[in-house]
Amino acid sequence: MEAVGARSLVRRRGRPRRRWSIPALPTLRPAMLAGGARTALPFPLDAAGARFYYFARNAVWAAVKLLGLPGKEVLVPAYHHGVEIEALVDAGAVPRFYPLGVGLSLDPHVVVARMTRATAAVYVIHYLGFPQPLDEIVEACRARGIPLIEDCALAGLSTDGERPLGSRGDVGIFCLYKTFPVPNGGVLVVNGTRPRGVPPPVPPPWTSTASHVGSSLLENLRLRGGPPGHWLADALRLAGRAVWSGAGATRVPTGTQHFERAHVQMGAAKVVHRILAAQDFARIVEVRRRNFFLLMGRLRDVAPPLVQELAPGVCPLFFPLVVARKSEVRRGLAARGIEAIDFWRTGHPAVRPGEFSDVDRLRETVIELPSHQDLSPAAMEFVAQSVREVLGA
Ligand SMILES: Cc1ncc(COP(=O)(O)O)c(C=O)c1O
Repeated sequence: MEAVGARSLVRRRGRPRRRWSIPALPTLRPAMLAGGARTALPFPLDAAGARFYYFARNAVWAAVKLLGLPGKEVLVPAYHHGVEIEALVDAGAVPRFYPLGVGLSLDPHVVVARMTRATAAVYVIHYLGFPQPLDEIVEACRARGIPLIEDCALAGLSTDGERPLGSRGDVGIFCLYKTFPVPNGGVLVVNGTRPRGVPPPVPPPWTSTASHVGSSLLENLRLRGGPPGHWLADALRLAGRAVWSGAGATRVPTGTQHFERAHVQMGAAKVVHRILAAQDFARIVEVRRRNFFLLMGRLRDVAPPLVQELAPGVCPLFFPLVVARKSEVRRGLAARGIEAIDFWRTGHPAVRPGEFSDVDRLRETVIELPSHQDLSPAAMEFVAQSVREVLGA
């Protein structure tokens, strides 16, 4: 598959000027709807008994039930999205928070030191695809006979050396639509011999899936089609919206901040499997790593790097940029057609501001830049140059 290149070059007022549209998430090409079987499916897509939900949050909720955690204490990181904590709480678990160590890494000594007799499970998040140091925590969980939950919602396709993230914990939780161009999808895998008995997910409304598929196809057109692609995508989006709202069709949004019990049993759409079968997984990892390296090299001198290296096997979800004025920087990038995400500005209200000052600082200063598999080196150079301009570098 060809990543988007210099085709978006347009001329305005005699000056060559690129008009980019760089979405935060990968987009769907029509050919992917035909499926395919290019490569074997990687973990967790190939895992026996993997449950495919609409969202990762549904998998978190199911994990609490499956592991018998209602009414019990779960150690969770203070740096989190918020919706995973809502899902834990809704399912009946009681979160107790632990701080981060350096950068995006937890400190295993601190986590182990926080375990008490009341601790019934430990929850770790592999931020943006970067593996957490798990050895000590796995050992401590094993010694106490309590489960480890690996949240890999941001870590699809990432490995720690040879070992896929999400395969060491008692359960692994994944979000598919962040890494792949699928309309919905979250996965729960149960590793080892724990019982797997959670009720099977129910199919989502087809209208919702169709709406997300349509949006992603239009994003793809906008990304690859140059100015005519932009024009056509805008026209089709307006027409689609009119038809959709006229028909009163349901759309269950993805990427939202809050958990909804009404959707907890909702499963992934069938087309998700078809689209996954059309992915070139090795290439996705390769391109994401290349793009991350490019941004790392170009932005090191204007923003302090949050991660120091890209270890073998890491499949980065986004490039984290540390900036003082997040909103201003995001606005500047949006004006250039780049969708940067302010992913974790706020967390769950159970964590009070000031309680974990390092986490507060991350929430105040980190935005995520797109670096996914649709983006060519030229697109990444445009992102890097835009960041430099916006920061006045
Ligand atoms: C760490 C983490 N876990 C779980 C989730 C929930 O993912 P989903 O939106 O698929 O429910 C998110 C969402 O961003 C997340 O960041």
